[in-house]
Amino acid sequence: MENGKINNDVEWMRINDQINSLFESTWPIPNGMTYNSYIIKGSSGIAILDGSDDYYSDDYINKVKEIVGDLKKIKYIIINHLEPDHQSSTPRLLDLSPDAKIVISKNGPKIAQSFYDFPADRVIAVNDNDRISLGNKTLKFVIAPWLHWPETMMTYEEEDKILFTTDVFGSYGWVKNGMFDDEVDLEKYRDEAKRYYINIIGKYNKYTLSAIEKIKDFDIRIIAPSHGPVYRKYVSEIIENYKQWANPKLKGVAIIYASMYGHMKIIVDMIESRLSEKGIPVKKIDLVEDHPSYVLAETNESSLFIFGIPTYDASIFMPVQNMIYVFKTKDLGHHRPAAIINTYGWTPIIDMAKETVKSAGFEVMEPAISIKASPRGKDAERLNELVDKVIEKYALISGSDGTR
Ligand code: FEO
Repeated sequence: MENGKINNDVEWMRINDQINSLFESTWPIPNGMTYNSYIIKGSSGIAILDGSDDYYSDDYINKVKEIVGDLKKIKYIIINHLEPDHQSSTPRLLDLSPDAKIVISKNGPKIAQSFYDFPADRVIAVNDNDRISLGNKTLKFVIAPWLHWPETMMTYEEEDKILFTTDVFGSYGWVKNGMFDDEVDLEKYRDEAKRYYINIIGKYNKYTLSAIEKIKDFDIRIIAPSHGPVYRKYVSEIIENYKQWANPKLKGVAIIYASMYGHMKIIVDMIESRLSEKGIPVKKIDLVEDHPSYVLAETNESSLFIFGIPTYDASIFMPVQNMIYVFKTKDLGHHRPAAIINTYGWTPIIDMAKETVKSAGFEVMEPAISIKASPRGKDAERLNELVDKVIEKYALISGSDGTR
């Protein structure tokens, strides 16, 4: 557990997670994950913003004691977001801090009860633009629901112009040797911030855009998220990135497939080659190699999809089934057109494939075709017809706004 200063009155505390290899037990974090928490020392009391994951609660509490000294000085524990990666330490910190109150968005107390059992008389629910004073520091609350839970909010410290955003503007990846965007190799975090956004918050694009609209007139000198680096040099860049990720300009075709014996690979290679000849940008993604976490991020801007779906046990081959289910769970089909090719040994499943892709929010194109084993005879003609339709459709929609 490390700590450092944003300025004389505001400090960060950081855990570089060495335990989990998957964030939310789902998303790969080969470069690790940070959990950041913050302490604001006002002239009339201290506020703590968010906390730590369960594994690190002891370290976290010890670090708070080391920085604060007497825990009686803590007046407020601000919960910008209730999820346990930030609040597992909070019940114990509240017990140890007799004068502290929990501050949470108006949407939070009911959910908080299910997780943490905070005594009702120690919880303050706040509305948009409510403020609390720490003497020479003022905290203003910005209710920003559904980023990515219903109760999320941000806290703006007015005197130093710091916006504390929890998950929003966060990133996968450990942060070491520095904390600020201009102290670390930000290149390492740019892709990981995008992947984090699309994986964790990307289902709620319209809420992201509403939240950004709410803070557009704020004078923000520092963005302090609860994962990844703190932004002080590239504040406007990360906000702009979020706008683009939430509402992208669509371009290119994503071919998403898996292949057990190479037959589907022959087909998608042929399609890739024909689309490339036409100058259409193609991302060909083998789901046996790529985790859905990366696929979601890679295809956020794709305007048209081609799903290569082999039959497996009279159903959809599992890597593709899982990927489509992830698109569905995350509501990331966005009515984008999708062509479908099914390969099979003895059972075509084209209707099942169409229904499944449609259920994930894509618009299924025709013709959707099944090919027995590997392409032969008239299959080349059928595939060419499908590719012609893709080229035609792509010309119609290319460069469209990804308004979501
Ligand atoms: Fe980092 Fe949604 O918690």
